[in-house]
Amino acid sequence: MGNNRTLVLIKPDALKRRLSGEIISRFERKGLKVIGLKMLKLTKPQAEKHYSVHKSKPFFGDLVSYITSSPILAMVLEGRECIQVVRNLLGATDGSKASPGTIRGDFSNSIQYTLVHASDSEESYKHEVSIYFNNEEILDYQIEGENLI
Ligand code: CMP
Repeated sequence: MGNNRTLVLIKPDALKRRLSGEIISRFERKGLKVIGLKMLKLTKPQAEKHYSVHKSKPFFGDLVSYITSSPILAMVLEGRECIQVVRNLLGATDGSKASPGTIRGDFSNSIQYTLVHASDSEESYKHEVSIYFNNEEILDYQIEGENLI
């Protein structure tokens, strides 16, 4: 493994609580690079495609309603072991179980309102990124000193 990319959504609850800057800052301070970023309001078909693995879950309908209820930020992050590093920064899905110091451990006490979504594998990244970004919207660039992080 080495450098990889992940798809992050800063979800409606995070924007409503004015936490998007705090969350992006945690990714940047860790040394991850933002290589794609946009605000959008998801359509129902996009949400159903994104969460297709949860289609049979009892909370699927509520999940789609919630993620389409107001704008979100979609981001592509890049860095060393980025998929795993971002999952670690997020903490456990259930905020009541997430460790202090993680984003959910510090700001969520819910299993539904989890503030942030991030891809859990290379396979999910490929599935998810295509819903939000085309190739021209993901920028390949270097930052001076980035290898020091
Ligand atoms: P996310 O990381 O975006 O991936 C799936 C989402 O489903 C999760 O965050 C939560 O928002 C939601 N979710 C997971 N488990 C439950 C649950 N038991 N009840 C309601 N929502 C859930």
